[in-house]
Amino acid sequence: MHGTKHRITATSSQQQQQQQVGAAMGGGSDGHAHRPPRPALRHAKLKMLLVVIATNLVSVYLFSGASLSLTVPASAPRIHLWDSTALLRDLNATRDTLALARAELAFLRAQCGTSSLLLESVLSKLGDVHGDAPAVQDFNGWPEEPAGELRLAIEPHRLPLGYSVNFGTDELFPGLGFACRNFQEDLTRYMTYNASAECPDDEGLALQLMLKGCEPLPRRRCRPRSPARYVEPTPLPGSLWSMPGDTTVNWTPYTCKNYTCLVDRARSRGGSYDCKDCFDLAGKERRRWLTDNGGPGFSIDNVLRSRPPGTVRIGLDIGGGTGTFAARMRERNVTVVTTTLDLDAPFNRFVASRGLVPLQISLVQRLPFADGVLDIVHSMHVLTNSVPDDVLEFALFDIYRVLRPGGVFWLDHFFCLGRQLNATYVPIFRRVGFRPLRWKPSPKLDLGPERNEWYVSALLEKPMT
Ligand SMILES: *[C@@H]1O[C@H](CO)[C@@H](O)[C@H](O)[C@H]1NC(C)=O
Ligand SMILES: *[C@@H]1O[C@H](CO)[C@@H](O)[C@H](O)[C@H]1NC(C)=O
Ligand SMILES: *[C@@H]1O[C@H](CO)[C@@H](O)[C@H](O)[C@H]1NC(C)=O
Ligand SMILES: *[C@@H]1O[C@H](CO)[C@@H](O)[C@H](O)[C@H]1NC(C)=O
Ligand SMILES: *[C@@H]1O[C@H](CO)[C@@H](O)[C@H](O)[C@H]1NC(C)=O
Repeated sequence: MHGTKHRITATSSQQQQQQQVGAAMGGGSDGHAHRPPRPALRHAKLKMLLVVIATNLVSVYLFSGASLSLTVPASAPRIHLWDSTALLRDLNATRDTLALARAELAFLRAQCGTSSLLLESVLSKLGDVHGDAPAVQDFNGWPEEPAGELRLAIEPHRLPLGYSVNFGTDELFPGLGFACRNFQEDLTRYMTYNASAECPDDEGLALQLMLKGCEPLPRRRCRPRSPARYVEPTPLPGSLWSMPGDTTVNWTPYTCKNYTCLVDRARSRGGSYDCKDCFDLAGKERRRWLTDNGGPGFSIDNVLRSRPPGTVRIGLDIGGGTGTFAARMRERNVTVVTTTLDLDAPFNRFVASRGLVPLQISLVQRLPFADGVLDIVHSMHVLTNSVPDDVLEFALFDIYRVLRPGGVFWLDHFFCLGRQLNATYVPIFRRVGFRPLRWKPSPKLDLGPERNEWYVSALLEKPMT
């Protein structure tokens, strides 16, 4: 396209030049009839002519992208007919000018080349920013190319022919926390093990990764070490309130090395541990949720009575510590799954040895239940003002999602400051769409009323429609 246009320009320029040269020859064809022009005028005309030739050549050169070479035009030999020093000088001058122009053009061309390179790189950078052109070294979001067991665990797996209809894809992608890419070094350490052998003792590392949002973790092909002298659990219902044997757990990652230590810790004054009281099943834990205290403490029996008899059958306790809520519900024939994290103590195995179902997930993960299946969700001391507002809102919407219509969310001892309650939290609960059955804000006075600290307990129903 461009080439054609350039050729057209070149042709018409040459014709124009030839016509002009012909006209200047004046005397050429019909010159005999006229007086020869005076030398000064003749030279002026020639100069003009040559300037026209030179300009046209430059434009031809420019538009042709320098594919034309700067040769003397076809009309040049005729100029030799005018054999004069002035003409020669002029021709020499023109040649010099042309040489100069040529050098300048070469320079401009080089500059254009540089600019176009710059432009290209700017465009490619812009493309990267917009994400529509892959970076030169892109490992699907990983800082380094994943290798070994990590690579095996995260790469897609081809489905057998014919299965793609059900799956909507012909490849299976392993579930893996998106944030794992941010901690590839730790994750690589976690995935460095001998396949088909014993796993490294790295429960602490796994939990750290989960807490950072690398959840779910990739699967491993190794066997976690079993405790040296494992003992069978106590049969139900005795297991609900009995301490498990110390030899049922590998204590390596924990500060306490046995349950006695955890109970002593619960009974001691001071010390700040996650769910400090939880391991003393003969202490505070034994009295929880048995009576309605008129404040933020609701009793399980009153909550169950707020629903038609027997309709609360399955549920979830978010951040349930050692599983006491689930134990109390179990005594009322309600099956409750307890989410808990092994923060400085083996919470999950403690819950399990009571004969209850532990689930190790953090607050930022989507609950592993389908929409509209649970009769009740309970959460105590986990949802507080220390949870970022947006995380809280996502968590509340997820609770709403897994509850069935008519299911209830028991918000238990939600902690916040007085000014936050109406300004921040009430609007969030409204947005989620619960219908309050009970709403009980109570000032928390143990550290003094001037701190304006509050507990809110509430019974929130997912509407039937
Ligand atoms: C023109 O240039 C040629 C060689 O390049 C030189 O021999 C000649 O003297 C020049 N003529 C004039 C008039 O400058
Ligand atoms: C793998 O096994 C070898 C030989 O038993 C051992 O030396 C090495 O430490 C193991 N590597 C890991 C990561 O466990
Ligand atoms: C329990 O563990 C603590 C340290 O965590 C230790 O001092 C104590 O001796 C242990 N008790 C028993 C009975 O093993
Ligand atoms: C729980 O179920 C058992 C057997 O189905 C029944 O005997 C018992 O009374 C029930 N307990 C309560 C508190 O409903
Ligand atoms: C929140 O608002 C309600 C009514 O809108 C009011 O009665 C209550 O005192 C407020 N609570 C706090 C802690 O300010």
